[in-house]
Amino acid sequence: MGANVSSPNVVNISDLRLLAEKRLPRMVFDYIDSGADREQTLSQNCSAFKEIFFRPRCAVSTPSCDLSISVLGEKFNLPFLLAPVGSSRMFYPKGEVVAAREAGVAGTGYTLSTLSGCRLEDVKAATNFPAWYQLYLLGGKDVALKTIDRAKNAGFSAIVVTIDTPISGLRERDLRNGTKELLSRNPLQMWPYISQMLVKPCWLTQWLGDGGLMSFPNVELENGPMGYTEIGPALEQSVVTWDDLKWIRDAWGGKIIVKGVHIGDDAKKAIDLGVDAIVVSNHGARQLDSVAPTIQVLPEIINAVNGEIDVLLDGGIRRGSDVIKALCLGAKGVLVGRAYAYGLAAAGSAGVSRAIEILKTDILRTMKLLGCDSVQKLDQSYVKFPKEWD
Ligand code: GLV
Repeated sequence: MGANVSSPNVVNISDLRLLAEKRLPRMVFDYIDSGADREQTLSQNCSAFKEIFFRPRCAVSTPSCDLSISVLGEKFNLPFLLAPVGSSRMFYPKGEVVAAREAGVAGTGYTLSTLSGCRLEDVKAATNFPAWYQLYLLGGKDVALKTIDRAKNAGFSAIVVTIDTPISGLRERDLRNGTKELLSRNPLQMWPYISQMLVKPCWLTQWLGDGGLMSFPNVELENGPMGYTEIGPALEQSVVTWDDLKWIRDAWGGKIIVKGVHIGDDAKKAIDLGVDAIVVSNHGARQLDSVAPTIQVLPEIINAVNGEIDVLLDGGIRRGSDVIKALCLGAKGVLVGRAYAYGLAAAGSAGVSRAIEILKTDILRTMKLLGCDSVQKLDQSYVKFPKEWD
């Protein structure tokens, strides 16, 4: 019971977004779609890609193109992985399992958010490709240690520590949609906002069939999994500091990635702590508004890192050409979040698969038009970008 994503009208990620908007209740769609405050960074994450121009090499034949990348020594068939997206199970039944499975089918990686509605063991079992676990310190250190152990046993190959959530950003659309009231379990407070769900009977039926309001089975408190209403306050007590990274690194004992780097100095701190990779990320513009778009700060961070560790990027990627631009500016690969989340919300497996296919086809075509036969050969010589970014 999802949209028909193979229709000729579904050409790009914006089309999937419209289908997601049609299927989802307003508050769930806005959870995916919105950003912080005035949503300045939300739009600039995307529009900044328009400031980069290609410099193609013409009259070049590229009968085959290698789209594979290697990150942390792991090979992925595509230059993009799926980013951690919280509450995917609200978008579609078993959302995290569905997305991980489609990532594996496409030969790429999946990153599971701590804010998952599915058990991490089930998610890892859904894919034969590497999966990473994104960690928030919800519930404190002991709770995190338990999750770290489970993630290790389940076979996650890296842990991704998000460092930009000392408090949740202000998502104004969530306030207007009554997200807090809907979670209050107080019928009087909930009532004015309930109609959003009733007008989406397909979503509602599937959501109830999947167990209704999810909890977070990978955040095991003494009295059971953390509930939805506990998230806001828990996030505020779960700030990750550079000191925390040391015990997380020691407890995990494997590859560690820091996500949420905005400036060169933080990239250097991460290297000093022995992390294996960083993600240049502003949390999909959901935390501090008015920070620079990620693609704009990428050159500064690449310079600071100076080839010592792998650098990934997320934020604003809606087209294959955006992926290529990030690689030209020095990213080893990118993470896409909303691009596949819209597909998941529109049509489950078929939607995620269609989102991946759209990006992959775009990338292949763009590579041929650029006259380049391997994404690993992309560099700054293929683009022109504003001097002040460097
Ligand atoms: C969770 O990380 C969110 O941005 O909602």
